[in-house]
This record gives sequence, structure tokens and C-alpha cells, in this order.
Amino acid sequence: MAGISSEKINEIRDSVDIVDVISSYIPLTPKGNNFFCVCPFHDDNNPSMSVSRTKQIYTCFSCHATGNVFKFIMDYENVPFLEAVKRVANIGHIDVNINTSGYKKTDNVLYDIYDFSLKIYMNNINTAEGASAKEYLKARHISEETIKKFDIGLALTKKDVISKILLKKFKEPDILKSGLVQKNEFGYVDLYYNRIMFPLYNLNGQVIGYSGRVYHGEDTTSKYINTKETEIFHKGELLYNYHRAKDLARMENTVIIMEGFMDVIRADTIGVANVVATMGTAVTPKQANIIRRMANNIILCFDGDEAGQKAAMSCSDELLSLGVMPKVVVLEDNLDPDEYILKFGKEKFLEKINNPLSLSDFKLNYLKKNLNFDNENDVAKYTNTVIGEINKIEDDILRELTIKKLAKETGLDESIIREKVKVPTDKIKKVEIKRSVTNNNVKIDKYQKAEKCLIYYMLLSKEVIKMYNKKITYMPTYKYRSLAREISLFYKEKGNINIADLINFCIDDEEMSNTIGEIQSMNLKENYTLEQIDDYINVIREYNVINETNRLMELMKKETNGAKKAQIAQKIIDLKKGE
Ligand code: CTP
Ligand code: MN
Repeated sequence: MAGISSEKINEIRDSVDIVDVISSYIPLTPKGNNFFCVCPFHDDNNPSMSVSRTKQIYTCFSCHATGNVFKFIMDYENVPFLEAVKRVANIGHIDVNINTSGYKKTDNVLYDIYDFSLKIYMNNINTAEGASAKEYLKARHISEETIKKFDIGLALTKKDVISKILLKKFKEPDILKSGLVQKNEFGYVDLYYNRIMFPLYNLNGQVIGYSGRVYHGEDTTSKYINTKETEIFHKGELLYNYHRAKDLARMENTVIIMEGFMDVIRADTIGVANVVATMGTAVTPKQANIIRRMANNIILCFDGDEAGQKAAMSCSDELLSLGVMPKVVVLEDNLDPDEYILKFGKEKFLEKINNPLSLSDFKLNYLKKNLNFDNENDVAKYTNTVIGEINKIEDDILRELTIKKLAKETGLDESIIREKVKVPTDKIKKVEIKRSVTNNNVKIDKYQKAEKCLIYYMLLSKEVIKMYNKKITYMPTYKYRSLAREISLFYKEKGNINIADLINFCIDDEEMSNTIGEIQSMNLKENYTLEQIDDYINVIREYNVINETNRLMELMKKETNGAKKAQIAQKIIDLKKGE
């Protein structure tokens, strides 16, 4: 695995106790042989994650998240595998040569191009030509210190500065791929010239793109120009300032979401640093997922204008669909946070942030805007929209309160509203219903149960793996078959089975991780009998026999040669005998 042996990785994993590591993030409560905590990977109210000291893994019985200590750090901190390994090595005081630059600059040359270009842009702003850019920033109350902190740079007026420098150092196709340079009939042209450069970072803090702002001159075509999407730059997967804000957000258990990066930079100048920006586009499910993990309290502080409020509505829906309920700050006079802070100052802004609206208050206010409550059509429209909103709320108490509020506002009888509100089903129940509908075939349930139980014990004991290898030809369900094969391969290579190490094998394979989670959350007894294992195997063999018999029957039907037909018939008989 990328320059580090799996033995070393296991040594690192062994150097820490997953219980200690997870408890440094979330309080753990001992219960029986295990420890329990609130699961950080879904909106958990009751502690449904168990951490096993003996197995060195965690499993959530509700969302089925599972993994070893590396996987926990990867998912909790949003870092790649090797970085997680490095962090665990640090905790365990193991010397290991995973250099940070190896992690910072992966093997994609685009990272190098962006790193290098950043140095140039940052240097430009300190040259004579940078003076007017600095004046512009100064006029916007951006200090020298802030310029440095946010790595703000400058693309010079000439249109081939970066092209020339990059072409000396990198290969042409790579440079074109980066998007910083374009080629036309006259030669190479920089994408950015005469713009103030704001670097954009991925979640790990590596530069992967820019937003370049006009600050003077005739180019008014577009206020900001963003780098095009590349292999490493996906705007919908990042949040501006994430890498700087995440630790503080976790410590304060609060994260503030804004639209623009200038807003984030402004907030930082008044000491509000647990802030990230969505950068003007509708929040994607990926971004919502990242936000959800940053902190429990999420505050949307979008622009005060209509577009900003609309964006706050849609962002909150995206979060709601993950079971997260943000709060909302509404800024008056159509101001964005940057303008608001400059106009009203730090104290007033903090007061706003410390007293956000509940989501339902925000939504009701928003939906009420421009409506005339003397007009029945308006009232009806409002009522129906709010009922739609109530249906999205999962929290019982909040639903109740919103129903009451709506009744009071509209003068309608509560019972009428109640009739139109759907009965909530909690998310987990929904999943189960879906599953039992697709599996309404009892036989499938029987086989799947056998597969799952068998794998559960394969993960515990090499004796069971050996039995599987000897007797099972084929597991009926694809995902279980893949996992069983993986376990079998692991055993073949290592001569034993260790689930916490096996997880490294498939750490980037989401489906397989989920399958392990599903199986672990069955939480069966650790002790098993050989008869029990035989039972599972026999059930699966029964499936194999039926399948194989069907296949042979088909074959026999098509066969015209009498002797061959008889051969196949014999095979079928043998199969049934062996059953
Ligand atoms: N944006 C963009 N392209 C544009 C306009 C906006 O990519 N033409 C993105 C930028 O990431 C910006 C965010 O949308 O940070 C919010 O846009 P806007 O509110 O217009 O920018 P401000 O943050 O107000 O920037 P400024 O104060 O410099 O005008
Ligand atoms: Mn602005």
C-alpha cells in the first residue's frame, strides 16, 4: 500500500487502542464488554455506536458504519487513508516514514502545478504591480496579515506570465489540464490576468483551484473567474476554509455556513473562525454531508438578499434530508455578512450569530414574505407550503410546535392541519420497510441470513473460514460473496483472521465496508457450535444445488445428443444425492 508495508500498517494499528482513540473524540460509556457512544456518522440521539476493545473495531447498530481506527479517523477527520495511518502512528509513538509531503502532494502533478502557481501569485502581490491590488484590499479593510493568512495573491496584467513560468517547469499537457493556461492560434494565454487570486483548497488543505476577482480595469465580464473542474478540483465537493475551520468548529461544536469566501475572510478578521463558504452554488449532498460532520450546531448565515434567503432555504432542505436541522441568521438590508460586519461591527454581528432563528421560524418568515393575509388565496397557498415543510421535520416536538404556530397564524383549526400532515416514520424504520419489501421472498431471506451468519463467524475464526473454503462453492448474494472471497484471501495470505486488519484491505470500498457494518451489527454471540456452522453451510449449499440443477435442466433440454443428455441427467442425480 503506497510505500508502506501492510505489516507496518498493522503494527501501527496495534500500537493504539481504538477505545482510547475514539474516546479522545467522543465520550464513551462502558456497557458489558464494549463501549458505547453517540454515532458521529448519522444524527444519533441514543448512543448506538459500539466500540469493541477485543475486536478493535467500532460498529453503529443504527447506520451500520463500521471500521477500524484508521477508518474512524478517515471518516471523522475527512482525511485519506495514509494520513489516518500517520496520525495513528503519531498517537502510538511509532516512527514511520510517511512524509507529509507525500500526503500533501499525491502523485498527481496538478497538485504541484497549483502549489507552484500559488507561490508566484503570492509573490506578485508584493511587487510594484501589486500596489494597486493592495490598495483595493485595504479599501475593503483586508489587512496585510489577512492577505497572508488566506494566501491571497495576484495575477499580473500581462497575459502570459504564468504560462511562461509553468512551461519551463512542467509538461505542456499537464499545464493545459490544470486549466491555468490555455492554448490558441497565437500561443499560450493565462486564464488569470489582472485579478486578485483567492486560492481554493480541498478538505486536506491542498490548493486545487482559484477564484480570481476583478479589482480594476476594463474586464468586467465576470466578477469572479473560477478554475474549471479538473481531476482534483470538484467545486461541489469542497467548502471554502474547511481545513482552517474544522478543528475550531469541532471544539465549539458549531459551524457557520456563508455563501462567499469574502464573507468568511471578513468573519475571520473579527475572530469568528469556525466558518466555511459554499461559494455561491446550491449546496450539494456531498457538501451537506461534510457540514453535518463538522459540528452539531449548524448556523446558516447567507446573504440578506432574496437570492441568499432562497439559497438558505435550499441548503437547509439538503441538510434536513440528512436529518440535520440548521439554524438561520437573517441579515437586514440585503447585506451579505462582509457588508454587515463592516457596517454594524463585530458586536452586532456576534449578537446575530448568538441568536439565530430556528429553522421553522426562518421558513415561516420566508414563506410569509410578500403574502397578504387578508387574501384567502394567499393564506391557502401559505398553509399548503408550510404543511409541506412540516412533513420534512423529523423532530416530533418541533412538528407539534409548528402545527400550533400555523394554526394560530392562519386562524385554521389545528385538526384540519393535522389531517393534511403525514404521519412521520423515522428514517431507520423506512430503511427496514424498504428492505423487507424487496426481500418479500422468504427463501431469499433464509439464504441471506445464512450467508450473513456464516460471514459473521468467518470474521471471528479461521476454523470457520476453512469450513467455508472446503464446502461452499458460491454464495448466492453478490455483496456477501465478494466479502467472503476477501476474507478467504486475507486468510490465505496471513494464515489467520483479524477483522481490524481486514478492514484495511477494503478501506476505500464503500460497499464492502457497508457489508461488514451490516454483518457486525447483527451482534451475534461470539460462541458458536460446529453444527450451527454446518447448518448455515447446508442452507447455502441447498441454494447452490437448486441453481446448478436448474442450469443443468436447461442444458439438458437444449441437448440433442442422447448420450450427452444422459450424462447431464446423471450429473443432476449426483448433485441431488450430495445434497
Ligand atoms: N461566485 C462566483 N462567480 C461569480 C459570482 C460569485 O464563483 N461570478 C461565487 C464566489 O465563490 C463568491 C460567492 O459566489 O464567493 C458569493 O458571491 P457574491 O455574494 O457575489 O460574492 P461576495 O462574497 O459578495 O464577493 P465580493 O464581496 O467580493 O463582491
Ligand atoms: Mn460581498
